[in-house]
Amino acid sequence: MHNKHSWAEPYKIKMIEPIVMTTKEFRQKALKEAGYNTFLLRSKDVYIDLLTDSGTSAMSDRQWAGIMMGDEAYAGSRNFYHLEKTIQDYYSYKYIVPTHQGRAAEHMLSQILIKKGDYVPGNMYFTTTKLHQEMAGGTFVDIIVDEAHDPDSLYKFKGDVDLNKLQKLIDKVGAEKIPYVSIASTVNMAGGQPMSMANLKALRQLTNKYGIKIMHDMTRIAENAFMIQLNEEGYADKTVSEIVYEFNLLTDGATMSAKKDALVNIGGFLAVNDYDTFDKARNMVVVYEGLHTYGGMAGRDMEALAIGIKESVQDDHIRARVGQVFYLGQKLLDMGVPIVKPVGTHGVFLDAKAFLPHVSQDKFPAQSLAAELYLDSGVRAMERGVVSAGRNKKTGEHNYPKLELVRLTIPRRVYTQAHMDVIAESVQRVFEKRDSINGMKMIYEPEYLRFFQARFEKL
Ligand code: F0G
Repeated sequence: MHNKHSWAEPYKIKMIEPIVMTTKEFRQKALKEAGYNTFLLRSKDVYIDLLTDSGTSAMSDRQWAGIMMGDEAYAGSRNFYHLEKTIQDYYSYKYIVPTHQGRAAEHMLSQILIKKGDYVPGNMYFTTTKLHQEMAGGTFVDIIVDEAHDPDSLYKFKGDVDLNKLQKLIDKVGAEKIPYVSIASTVNMAGGQPMSMANLKALRQLTNKYGIKIMHDMTRIAENAFMIQLNEEGYADKTVSEIVYEFNLLTDGATMSAKKDALVNIGGFLAVNDYDTFDKARNMVVVYEGLHTYGGMAGRDMEALAIGIKESVQDDHIRARVGQVFYLGQKLLDMGVPIVKPVGTHGVFLDAKAFLPHVSQDKFPAQSLAAELYLDSGVRAMERGVVSAGRNKKTGEHNYPKLELVRLTIPRRVYTQAHMDVIAESVQRVFEKRDSINGMKMIYEPEYLRFFQARFEKL
């Protein structure tokens, strides 16, 4: 089914957006002005933008046609009903509350289900997810398998939960203090690593025993399903769409940042199967987002999303999407560049600790590496290390994650194979001069999600 032929894209290009290459002197200045934080660069100064795969997808002509079919009624837009039915049909969830993006759904879910003093175990943290859990009074507990913290482990399902870690937590704090297990497909901070169906089934059995819910961050579910199809026994002959449905059925609800998998530039939702949680969320959404039949999206956005969901689970689409990421990953592996293995689905993650072994973690190696890469070629990447991990709530110390990574995130349907070659060549140049790269010091630090706006100086 796969691997037999090229991953070539199942589409052709109808419209282009010009991008420009800048000079090194120009980038030097731009980088300094941005406080050596790639989030603070202006996009016009970027050549190839690998900051994120979030909201950066190219929409199809079908989606753009859907935009023209926007029903901008305040209440009861027909696009909402199309979206609702699509989520029910393709994702299995029963009740839907639209939001403007993922974190708004995380906010509502956390406020509704988490009480002060609760614990929320998850397969590694995600920045916004964890913050909302904490703001609701909960404590996040990492229960992902140990392999996920090792960039060199070749384990195929690094998104799996370690059930012993969950059992230990239940024994220690009691099931009544655990409102739900928070699972993400795929695990962003681990390098875009998938969770297996077998592991989710086992997790379902264990949580059922204690009446604990499973809440699913389904931001990259189609990519996760593709990895199950590729690598998990018994799934080679199922379609990605079937696998997505089966996976979701094992969970009680989901938050979605539709800006990734679902191929839109803005949008998200909370979806649950129990009426009580839905009722509370529907009540809350009108305070923070908008009426429950648009929740922060225009009618046209909901239409583009409904169409995007259907496109996102097509086998030929997802094979080409992940195939492009694999192409870049393999190229870097062949060059001997240290990256997280196996290659994940939404990007290639440089292992900054191995790349810059002479830069200690308190000097922000991943942040420094991302800055160097921009300086070399105008390629913009993102830090996923100590800056992203923030500080310990109690001690105020930096959290020092095992993984200190630079994420080369590949937008969907945007760049070509030649762009992948340019990226790999730039990484190789930076790798060759790695000894000359020193760390940085943080000179401005915001209180929440500091990686977005922190500023640095070169050491
Ligand atoms: N969950 C995961 C796994 C994510 O990757 C993101 C966003 C969110 C939730 C939050 O969704 O941005 O729509 O509010 N990740 C982006 C990224 C920002 O670049 O990885 P949001």
